[in-house]
Amino acid sequence: MSAVSPDIVVFPDRSALARSAATRFVAIAQSAIRARGKFTVALSGGSTPRDLFTLLATQEFASQIDWSRTHLFWGDERGVPPDHPDSNFKMANDTLISRVPVPAENVHRIHAEIAPEDAAREYAETIRKFWDTERISPQSPLTKGDTGDRIPAFDLVLLGLGPDAHTASLFPHTPALHETARWVVAQYVDKLKTDRITFTPPLINAAKNILFLVAGADKANAVQAVWRGKYSPDEFPAQLIQPTKGIVVWLLDQAASANLDVKSEK
Ligand code: 6PG
Repeated sequence: MSAVSPDIVVFPDRSALARSAATRFVAIAQSAIRARGKFTVALSGGSTPRDLFTLLATQEFASQIDWSRTHLFWGDERGVPPDHPDSNFKMANDTLISRVPVPAENVHRIHAEIAPEDAAREYAETIRKFWDTERISPQSPLTKGDTGDRIPAFDLVLLGLGPDAHTASLFPHTPALHETARWVVAQYVDKLKTDRITFTPPLINAAKNILFLVAGADKANAVQAVWRGKYSPDEFPAQLIQPTKGIVVWLLDQAASANLDVKSEK
C-alpha cells in the first residue's frame, strides 16, 4: 500500500482495498459512537462495495461494531423496488444487513418503488426527522457541532466512481450537479434509461468523512480526469466532492490508479 497524498491511497488489489475500507469503517463507527452515541453512514451502490460489505459481515469486523447504534442510509438508489436485482438496498441486504444484528428501525432505505420525486422528498424528510429526533433525544449526547449547522453531517458517506466520473447518481450534465438547496433529488438518467434518487453535492460535502472506493482498469481514465484534468464538474461530477469541514479519502486499487503513475507496494 502506498499513499500518493493524504487524499489517495493505492492498494495492490481489490481485496486489500476492501480490507482497508472495512478497517476505516470500523474506526469511524467506533469514534462516532464514543463521541455521540450513534453512527450514521450512507452506503454506496454498484458492485465495488460488495467486497467491503461482505467483509463487514464477518465475525472479524462485525464484532467490532455496535450495530444497535449504527444507522444505515443510502447515498443513492435506482428507481426499482427493494427486491430488484439492480437495487442498492438489495445488494447491501444480501451481503451485510441480513448477516449482522442491525435493528430494522436503523435501516433507512430509500423507498424507490414509489414515484421518484416522492421518494426523494420523503427521503429528505426521513433524514431531517432523524436528525431532529436525535438532537432532542436526551440519551444521545450530541456535541454542539452535530446540529450547529442546518445540514445534517453524516459520520461517513461511501462513494464509488463510474467510468464517466459520476459518483452517487450525480451523472455528467444532469440537473442534480447544480442543486444547492435540496439534500436529495430524483432525476431520470437518459444514458441508463432509468430513474435515480441521489444525495446532492451539498449533503455529501457536509459529511464528516467521505470514502471513495474505486477499483478496476475501467476507472483509470475517470480517476485521471478527476485528479489531473481541468476542473469541469459538469463533465467530471466527482470533482464536486469537496467536504466543507470533513475529510475525503480515495482508496484505489492499482488498476484504477494506473494513469496517476503511482505504484502500490507489492
Ligand atoms: C450506483 C452507485 C454508483 C457507483 C458507480 C460505480 O448506484 O451505481 O451509487 O455511483 O458507485 O457507478 O459502480 P461500480 O462499483 O459497480 O463500478
